[in-house]
Amino acid sequence: MTLPNDLDSSRLPQHVAIIMDGNGRWARQQGKIRTFGHQNGVLAVRDTVEAAAELGVKFLSLYAFSTENWKRPRWEVNALMELLIDTISKETKTLMDNNIRLQAIGDINSLPEKCRKQLDETIQKTNSNTRMTLILALSYSSRWEITNAVQEIVSEAIKGNIKPEDINDNVISDHMCTRFCPDPELLIRTSGEYRISNFMLWQIAYTELFFTNKLWPDFRRNDFFDAIRDFQKRERRYGMLSENQPDDNDA
Ligand code: FPP
Repeated sequence: MTLPNDLDSSRLPQHVAIIMDGNGRWARQQGKIRTFGHQNGVLAVRDTVEAAAELGVKFLSLYAFSTENWKRPRWEVNALMELLIDTISKETKTLMDNNIRLQAIGDINSLPEKCRKQLDETIQKTNSNTRMTLILALSYSSRWEITNAVQEIVSEAIKGNIKPEDINDNVISDHMCTRFCPDPELLIRTSGEYRISNFMLWQIAYTELFFTNKLWPDFRRNDFFDAIRDFQKRERRYGMLSENQPDDNDA
């Protein structure tokens, strides 16, 4: 694959997170049922994972199934679970061939047993891969994750293992599902919606946001590169002053 030569490989985001949205609308545009959109969404997943790995991104997180998605009609939830099992099983070899590690975040225990088994198997198998980590957010929502973290920390405090005054940013981050990776530097959302939808709320405090009108099944490597290109034009200040902006006291 040829990589765009205008991208600066020394300024890549280490972690990119994606809210994949618009599968249902894409299917409707084709006069098909929603699951047709999810099936075609898998092609976008494959192309994006490949592009991210070849570019040198170290962590790619995909919001594949939210806590709220359980409220969708039974047939759609079942179809999504089957698609996940089928895709993870079929793509395990590709993950191995490309040295990509799979991880999952979310309330994994709430997934059907067949889905958990397939996930566990592929996570174990790919565990020593080092090129990139693909993180699937499954039965995930930030409010669930934060609630879970608070429960764990309070239990530790009750046992006397931590004092309330010692609870800081790092302690909280260490109780998030994402404790094994850095916070995302770039978050992409497709389908023209300008929302975060309960995704990585703690982790995106300083993340650059990129919104595109493309519906997820139409998203391809060039759209991913556009987002990286846009990211590289931005100045990240983390609440500090711009490097080009003199401090008034310097005058
Ligand atoms: C959002 O579109 C998409 C989802 C809820 C599911 C995403 C799943 C996949 C792309 C397939 C499997 C993925 C992996 C990682 C194997 P939507 O249904 O909310 O679309 P709409 O907003 O147009 O209704």
